[in-house]
Amino acid sequence: MTAGPGVAAGRDGAVRGAEARWEERVQRAAHPVAYPAVRALRHRPVARVPRVGLVVSDAAVAREVLLDVDRFSKVGPGSPSDLWTPILGPSVLLNMEGAEHAAMRRALGPIFSPRAVRELVAGRESGGPAMGGALAEMAARLDAGGTVDLAAVVAAQAGAVICGLVGLPPTDAAVRESMAAAQAVTGMVRLHRRRLTTSQVAHARRVLEELTAPARDAYRAGDESTVPGRMRGLGLSEREAMGAVGAFVLTGTETIQSFVPRLLAIAHDTGWMERLLASGGELRRPVVEEALRVTVPTPAMLRSVRADAVVGGHRVHAGDRVVIATVNCCRGAGAFDPGAAVDPDVRHLWFGAGPHFCLGMPLAMAQVDAVLDTLAPLATGGRRVVVGRRRPARRVLVPAYRGLELSLAGPQASQTGA
Ligand code: HEM
Repeated sequence: MTAGPGVAAGRDGAVRGAEARWEERVQRAAHPVAYPAVRALRHRPVARVPRVGLVVSDAAVAREVLLDVDRFSKVGPGSPSDLWTPILGPSVLLNMEGAEHAAMRRALGPIFSPRAVRELVAGRESGGPAMGGALAEMAARLDAGGTVDLAAVVAAQAGAVICGLVGLPPTDAAVRESMAAAQAVTGMVRLHRRRLTTSQVAHARRVLEELTAPARDAYRAGDESTVPGRMRGLGLSEREAMGAVGAFVLTGTETIQSFVPRLLAIAHDTGWMERLLASGGELRRPVVEEALRVTVPTPAMLRSVRADAVVGGHRVHAGDRVVIATVNCCRGAGAFDPGAAVDPDVRHLWFGAGPHFCLGMPLAMAQVDAVLDTLAPLATGGRRVVVGRRRPARRVLVPAYRGLELSLAGPQASQTGA
């Protein structure tokens, strides 16, 4: 990308320091032991760690593993299938490989078309204002000179998207309950445990069963204005459709809740907020991508070794586990700087690589854009969006802010009529 006036600000040591300090706090609050342990390996492209596996911290090596589907799999000992198959069933993308996996991705493609995600985000799927409601309320409160908690707004937004996915009208209660259900399941996962206990599995299945009950009804009714109904139209069996809905809820909720407040925090801390929200928006994408690179909302990817192989000079055998420390691979490219050229090995690695590349990326970007589109018109006429008090979330799977206050600084007269 072209280097603009932002490059100098992005390279400003003092400003960048605030970003790095807050990110460190967010990461350590979530994983006080695992995060420092993983970061300690950052200068070793590949390291064998007893009881954990072969840890990869180099983007080029990570890409090789992710693209080599003959030797590395998401199914098998130590892979995500150990965690998710007992809860979601055997065919939910993230625990599939090969031709069946490719066929399921093709079938689900239309659910994530640009138009479909726009509708999901606008709430038209579920027949209500959905997240538009939470965002409009945020705009009105900011415009009136108030303070909002962006973490709460994004939680409402994510809950509304879940409602859209399962085909529920996004009432306040439904949004809250959907979000609580998703968090109850992801909250059980711990980095140091490879499987959930029997009682955790039973509890997670009950919670998901309840959450996806409306999805089952929508699937059976075959109403193509709902996501489950559309999945039926696309040829998915009821079991596959329910598994896919469960997988979307589990993969797509906390990542967004993690990322959006951290994006705004980083833009504030580095002096990039105005350019992130500027009209025209040509700097929006580089800022968002760079914030994804330094936050890495999915900090690790797991693979089970299918056949003997060599990874970054280390021999691995069938049944071993490879842990891609995506957080090390991506952050190794330096501190936040939207003006810097992006190493092709690192580019989009935060969304994975190869056949399991994040299917929900268009939905994630649409959700980010919805928040930025709401804030952009407020940051005009000399007013600026500023970050106030914030509080990292403790002991969560995906590092995040528990609370992050936003307000407007500058002339207080209403600029938008929001
Ligand atoms: C900033 C937000 C997000 C990030 C950083 C992210 C990151 C990732 C990564 C790294 C993977 C690959 C994991 C691997 O190969 O082991 C992945 C897969 C996936 N993501 Fe996302 N994700 C995000 C949002 C979403 C959303 C909103 C959805 C919505 C439904 C979603 C759905 C999925 C699914 C279904 C897969 C599995 C794809 C497959 O196995 O074929 N993600 N994501």
